[in-house]
Amino acid sequence: MCGIVGAVSQRNVINILLDGLKKLEYRGYDSSGVAVLNKNKELSFYRKVGKVQELSNLVENKNVDGGTGIAHTRWATHGEPSEKNAHPHLSNKVAVVHNGIIENYEELKHELISSGYNFKSETDTEVIAHLLDFYLNESKNLREAFFKTVKRLKGAYGTVAFELNNPEVLITARSGSPIVIGLGYDENFIASDQLALLNVTRKFMFLEEGDIAEIKYNEISVFDVNGKSIERDIIESNLKENATVKGQYKHFMEKEIFEQPQAILDTLAGRTLDNDVLVESIHYDAKEILEKVEHVQIIACGTSFNSGLTAKYWFESIAKVSCDVEIASEFRYRDFVTRPNSLLITLSQSGETADTLAALKLAKEKGFMATMSICNVAGSSLVRESDFSFMTKAGVEIGVASTKAFTTQLVCLLLMVTAIGKVKCKINTEKEHEIISSLKVLPKQIQSIFKFDKDIAEISKDFSDKHHTLFLGRGEFYPIAIEAALKLKEISYIHAEAYAAGELKHGPLALIDEDMPVVVIAPTNELFEKLKSNIEEVKARGGKLYVFTDTESTFTDEENTKVIKLPAVNHITAPIYFTVPMQLLSYHVALIKGTDVDQPRNLAKAVTVE
Ligand code: AGP
Repeated sequence: MCGIVGAVSQRNVINILLDGLKKLEYRGYDSSGVAVLNKNKELSFYRKVGKVQELSNLVENKNVDGGTGIAHTRWATHGEPSEKNAHPHLSNKVAVVHNGIIENYEELKHELISSGYNFKSETDTEVIAHLLDFYLNESKNLREAFFKTVKRLKGAYGTVAFELNNPEVLITARSGSPIVIGLGYDENFIASDQLALLNVTRKFMFLEEGDIAEIKYNEISVFDVNGKSIERDIIESNLKENATVKGQYKHFMEKEIFEQPQAILDTLAGRTLDNDVLVESIHYDAKEILEKVEHVQIIACGTSFNSGLTAKYWFESIAKVSCDVEIASEFRYRDFVTRPNSLLITLSQSGETADTLAALKLAKEKGFMATMSICNVAGSSLVRESDFSFMTKAGVEIGVASTKAFTTQLVCLLLMVTAIGKVKCKINTEKEHEIISSLKVLPKQIQSIFKFDKDIAEISKDFSDKHHTLFLGRGEFYPIAIEAALKLKEISYIHAEAYAAGELKHGPLALIDEDMPVVVIAPTNELFEKLKSNIEEVKARGGKLYVFTDTESTFTDEENTKVIKLPAVNHITAPIYFTVPMQLLSYHVALIKGTDVDQPRNLAKAVTVE
């Protein structure tokens, strides 16, 4: 949430900063700003409410020219989206941008006000600017003043600053919010995400927690919290060139839905041999660790939480290992009992979700046997802080509404379940082969769903004028219904709820009328007959039904019932498969409603604050 770009170069950096901001816009997009300094110490400073394009329009024709600059796109936490709250924030001698939250900002603000500082915004960030200015008055040295400033901050921050009097130095700190340095020829860059800098470099240095770095056009110095000089590795980015472009697609979400067959292929690559799961592809010591596992505790937020809910069914029914799944923001604030030999699995697309990270840190003190993350971003905080990680290979996911990260998490989780089942001798070779072979054909099967895109677009017309929608599923399709409801809420702003179909009669049946479409995920499996009875309960009360089933089912279109019959697939991988038509449904509803699909209101891609 929020995006930072910084550059120090011999050339004009304004377009590098604006281009970088556009790449980060999915992290926050309610206001943005830029501050650029030239060699004559002249400052260009612009801020604007709205998307980055608004800022670009403002800056155009202003002849901004300077080699040192910082820029920011904001997702409001402290203070409404407004020009005065947009970053950068200036104090007398400094300019600052910041991601995260300064928890002790009120205390610092009082102190700074009594030292004579005037606050112009409602943000917590402004305290960093004034504090840095205050310490610069004392020490006259940017690095020294910055160290003193950072020592006073409590909370999470990734911050970059420069001194208005010193046009060739940027200074940055990372604590709870990622910062990466991009290395160029006679120029260097800073960003909160490497995606912002792919147009100017592919060489990156990822700062670690507590690192402070000083960047000049021809020099990078990194220090630990005590000011000791340290080395960080330089990594060549392997992100694909087209990772951040929509290509033929109208939205990133659409692109990412259609990328799922490839994302699943990539996630499976190197993790199976013939139809066996390669246990050691999870971790070189996985056999030893997994043999001991008696309980799995999954922690995640949002869509990642929903993939955990799905996996619970698999862990218990296939690997016969008990599994609990909990929302990170709940888990981190309650007293929980750690069961013996528990494996903690955190799930996250970004690897930077504040609640999930905090839950992991807490769990590490509470006696879990091992901590593992299933994550899409290599080098993210979650990956670094877990004992080991099993990466989803979804590729960059830009749409705020998660799609391919979800299905690839499910693939990783099913591989994990198979591996645990195998090493604990809970599944036989036949079962292992059944799971792995059905995972292998899944990309092709998902491809076949895309032929139904037009049919799904057609039925989506029935939803666009509705205010509520109910999603139903049973067994492991209940979490898929929850995920479908989340997608519809996020991008179409239609209130949607999911129920385990058997629970209908305990309350939600009262809601059924012709204005409440009911979507049922109804593959033919052992619960099919039960689900049919639940569908009858809805029909009998005049509900309008949309049944997503497979070619083996007996459902047919009739009055008030529309049926989409997809090719039948193996029942174990069916939850992953049936996710895709749900994504397409919410996408088409959002298209009709004309919402901002990739950047839905009030949301940010990575929630790095509590
Ligand atoms: C997904 O569509 C959401 N935007 C959101 O719920 C997301 O899944 C959640 O914030 C967790 O993010 P993470 O996977 O990056 O940890």
